[in-house]
Amino acid sequence: MNQGLKKQQAADAAIELIEPGMSLGVGTGSTVNCFIDKLPRVADRIAAVAASSHETRRRLEAAGFTVSELSETGDLDLYVDGADEANKHFHLVKGGGGALTREKVLAAASRRFACIIDDSKWVATLGKFPLPVEVVPMAQSYVARQMVRARGQPILRKGFVTDNGNAILDVHNLAITHPLDLETRFNQIAGVVTVGIFAHRPADIILMATDAGIKRFDRR
Ligand code: A5P
Repeated sequence: MNQGLKKQQAADAAIELIEPGMSLGVGTGSTVNCFIDKLPRVADRIAAVAASSHETRRRLEAAGFTVSELSETGDLDLYVDGADEANKHFHLVKGGGGALTREKVLAAASRRFACIIDDSKWVATLGKFPLPVEVVPMAQSYVARQMVRARGQPILRKGFVTDNGNAILDVHNLAITHPLDLETRFNQIAGVVTVGIFAHRPADIILMATDAGIKRFDRR
């Protein structure tokens, strides 16, 4: 089965999680775009919807939804988002699309976080995908030097500005063997806005599309 079909399958599985009256947070990326395309089917079940990026807001509005700010919705019932990598501990690497800061906020503010992926994202150790780190622009060279000290190879994402007006460093060659510790450590670096490790707020549910169908994992 090709990756496109797997993304559709994962999106279908997430649609089934939506119950009447739910407030919903919507992530960013190509898998989530499949989810947004299917969302009008269950529009009558959704009490409010918040978006993790300008792009997602635009797509939700094009699909007929009125998008609320998190300040209006309060905590959300369910957050649905993709990931660049996921492991069996429900730790994720995110931010390939550059929306990691707002994604982390929505995930933090949600009672349940369902992560939708295809099986190409499943890894034993995080870090093969370059770790996105959102940084305040004037701090980018300072933060880059700290990443080199941590044995990473940071590359500035050229020509890219986040929805928050910041830059992204993609940090290559990190073996993220202790995601909780590394997320904490990188969060302490002055000028770092958001680290793309989602370990302190992991996924609660992973819906992974495989050739054999959807595999669902629930965090206890
Ligand atoms: C966006 O900033 C990311 O965190 C995405 O969730 C992640 O890159 C997954 O995107 P795809 O579904 O396009 O692979």
